Amino acid sequence: MIKKWPNSFDFQGFNEPIGVEWCDYNLDVEGNIPDEIQGAFFRAVPDPGFPPFIDKDTYISGDGMIGRFLIHGNRVDFAIRYIETDRYLAEKKENKALFGAYRNPYTDDPSVRGVERTVANTTPIWHGGRLFLTKEDGPAYEVDPITLDTIGKWDYHGALKSQTMTAHVRIDPDSGEMFFFGYEAGGLATRDVAYCIADKDGKLISEQWFQAPYCAMLHDFVVTENYVLFPIFPTIADLDRIKAGGAHWVHHPDEPTWVGIMPRYGKVEEMKWVKGPNGLSAYHMMNGFDEKASGSSLVHMDLNVMETNIFPFIREASGVDASPAELRASLCRWTFDMDDLDKGWTETIIGPPGDMSRTAATDQCRPYEIGYYACYDPQIGPPVIHSVVGAGFNTLLRIHVGKGKHEALPLGPDRSINEPIHIPSRQEGHEGWLAAVVDTHSTMSSELWFLEAGNIGKGAIARVKLPFRLRPQIHGWWVPQEELDRAAVLGG
Ligand SMILES: [Fe+2]
Repeated sequence: MIKKWPNSFDFQGFNEPIGVEWCDYNLDVEGNIPDEIQGAFFRAVPDPGFPPFIDKDTYISGDGMIGRFLIHGNRVDFAIRYIETDRYLAEKKENKALFGAYRNPYTDDPSVRGVERTVANTTPIWHGGRLFLTKEDGPAYEVDPITLDTIGKWDYHGALKSQTMTAHVRIDPDSGEMFFFGYEAGGLATRDVAYCIADKDGKLISEQWFQAPYCAMLHDFVVTENYVLFPIFPTIADLDRIKAGGAHWVHHPDEPTWVGIMPRYGKVEEMKWVKGPNGLSAYHMMNGFDEKASGSSLVHMDLNVMETNIFPFIREASGVDASPAELRASLCRWTFDMDDLDKGWTETIIGPPGDMSRTAATDQCRPYEIGYYACYDPQIGPPVIHSVVGAGFNTLLRIHVGKGKHEALPLGPDRSINEPIHIPSRQEGHEGWLAAVVDTHSTMSSELWFLEAGNIGKGAIARVKLPFRLRPQIHGWWVPQEELDRAAVLGG
């Protein structure tokens, strides 16, 4: 069947769907991958199985695929498979799209009413010896990390009551606990948020529900050693609009931003809501940490803040006219004085605009110095179609958040970089390594690049050539080989 895709950036250029499950072994490597890099780089990739039947569809509605680079020193294998969600299997059976608009079940074919709609396409998460594929609008799916077979929906053996699980979790590097949440936890467009903790072995030990000020697109959050922070930005769902076939999300420039703060092991009744400026938006937080300073108890949250929503399809539904390349998302530090939350937070710009921020896993939830993220630098060249916002990232950044300094690796006008992952080093005092897929537009080809995390300006130390183009990923996750081995021994 020849598939005809819509004439929008979501389906053209590097965003054209591929729809092929494949694997290849011993890929060509230019340069040397350090011997200590042994493990799997998992990637979540939206790739619709069938052309949509609705007028407009978005990149992030695509069926989830799990890509995996298996790395053993200079040997690299690759495989990619569909996540066999209920939705994917239902459409595959009928050989056509049955699900309609993004997060709107009222636009679906009646034959799939009540079928779980999530496409599990946003983040691979490794915790408790299991691999999950997540998207915030539904449950996680468990995937076998070796075969990439879909095992099924994951609800902590029936313990998790939330109908959804976020694609952004926080794992405390000391305790191994995973903190996560689900919004619209009680159903479509509800204000219910479930705040959850799983212990290091992957057992759900806490689930508490609270109500957000409005039903916001709550994409990410922050956990410090003592607190948890829920940032609520006014991209808001409305059930009546959804029932009428309209957009799930509309951004409201006149509604305030809120941040809910509570002790991370506390009760949701202890949540304090701090009101901020109207109309802001942010998708990703780099990190959060506590600080005792001259008698004050401070909590910091570092995030890429934008003046409006970055997603073109949400801006269109909201009547906000701006091109992605014009929208700036400065890396900001929001500081909260826990003894005087009524005064709001203070904002300090700590880095250039960008997104998809990462730190070393061992730096999460505590004071840290180094972060990495990607940005679009307009001085390098005009925007090129890549991924969900329609303008690819052409630069990799390493930022020293304490010193306010950064270094950049510009990739030129013809390349886009996907979110980097950080791979720790066993060498004392070594900052570790970064890996990211870099896409070249003129040749429509993809490579996996390895870099020294502490010296990104040096460029790639190794480049892995792929025989086929990869569709841009959303997020990735690094799993060391010893953790894969341990999970296999335990029968995970
Ligand atoms: Fe995300």
